[in-house]
This record gives sequence, C-alpha cells and structure tokens, in this order.
Amino acid sequence: MDNSSLSLPAAIFILFLFTTHPNYCLSARKHLSSESDTDTDFIRSSCNATIYPDLCFATFSSYATEIQSDSKILATMSLTLALNTTLSASQTLTDLGKTQGLEPKEAAALHDCVEQISDSVDEFTRSISEMEETQGKSFAFRMSDVETWVSAALTDEDTCIDGFSENAMDADVKAAVATVIEKVAQLTSISLAFVNQYAGSK
Ligand SMILES: *[C@@H]1O[C@H](CO)[C@@H](O)[C@H](O)[C@H]1NC(C)=O
Ligand SMILES: *[C@@H]1O[C@H](CO)[C@@H](O)[C@H](O)[C@H]1NC(C)=O
Repeated sequence: MDNSSLSLPAAIFILFLFTTHPNYCLSARKHLSSESDTDTDFIRSSCNATIYPDLCFATFSSYATEIQSDSKILATMSLTLALNTTLSASQTLTDLGKTQGLEPKEAAALHDCVEQISDSVDEFTRSISEMEETQGKSFAFRMSDVETWVSAALTDEDTCIDGFSENAMDADVKAAVATVIEKVAQLTSISLAFVNQYAGSK
C-alpha cells in the first residue's frame, strides 16, 4: 500500500512531464524561429504533390532548414537520398544473392536485379551532376534529361520486381526484394515529382 501511494504521485508527475515537456519544446522552437515554419510549410506543400505525401514529409522535414523554400535544393537532395538508398539496396541485394541454398532461378533474378539497380545508380549520379551544371544545354533541355534519367531509374526498379513475378519464386526472397525495392521506388517517385516541380518553377 505504501509503495502504491508513493508511486501514484510519481507517476502523475512523470505523466505531467511527458505531456507538457514536448509542447513546451515545440512552442519554444516556434518562438525562436518563425522562419522554420515557412520552411516546413514549403516541404509540406511540395510533398503534397507527390504520391507518398506522408513518407515524403517524414523524410524531408528534417532537412527543412537546409532546403528552406528552394525547389532546386529540394530536388537535388531528393536525388542524393534516392542515390544513397539505391546504393544500400544494391548491397542488400548482393548479400541476398549469397544466401546459402539459393535456387538458380532466384539467384539469376537477383543477379539481374543487381544489374538494373546498378543502372539506376548511374542514372541518379548523372542526374545529380546535371543539376549542378550550368554550361551548354538550356535549362529546359537539361531538366528534360534529368526527368528522363529518373524515369529510367523507376523503370529499372520495376523491372527488378517483375523478375520475381513467377509464382514458383521463393516467397521469402521475393518479399525481401519487394521490401528493399519498394523503399527505393517510393523515393525515386518523390524525387521525380520534385525534379518536375523544379523544372516548372522557371
Ligand atoms: C494538399 O492538396 C490538397 C488538394 O490537392 C489541398 O486541398 C490542400 O490544401 C493541400 N495542402 C497543402 C498543405 O498544401
Ligand atoms: C548521402 O551519402 C553521402 C555519403 O555517405 C552523405 O555524405 C550524404 O549526407 C548523404 N545524403 C543524404 C541526403 O542522405
């Protein structure tokens, strides 16, 4: 009885901290930097135009200060993030290909997948450097090239998944590949939307 009468106020105090502390932090942050709200609004409205607004906002809101309201920085950052995620997907698929006792057809599909993903790594790399290029091509032509390459990356990701569409494929391998590729494909789709937004901003 003594224990429970002691812990109840303690519990209430802890509850009090948990419920008030985040609010306090939030309002303090708002107070300190009203600019940050504008940056977050920009991310929110940019993400609103993508197929995955929630994932998009969760991913890019942490970069709000860096992005501000600059659609070029947002597009370039989304390409870099897509590239990074694709590189780690490539590693995961390569590791999966080394699984003991893998059947030849799963091994072959994984091998093809790693090649397709490697193509999309090239497409993102070209796109990122093209975003920084200012000489030569017109802006419209340059953006059209970037859109083409990012679309090609999306196609490569689809092709990878399609390689596992046969019913006889091992369900675990298929599910593992789908999880890895889905993450990459969602980011690629968001990135394509941001490149389109930047292309339309001038
Ligand atoms: C998101 O888009 C919907 C309709 O497309 C619109 O009604 C809403 O205001 C938008 N929200 C933001 C934050 O831009
Ligand atoms: C991408 O990876 C590079 C190298 O690891 C890192 O410096 C950069 O911050 C990453 N960018 C994003 C947006 O994750």
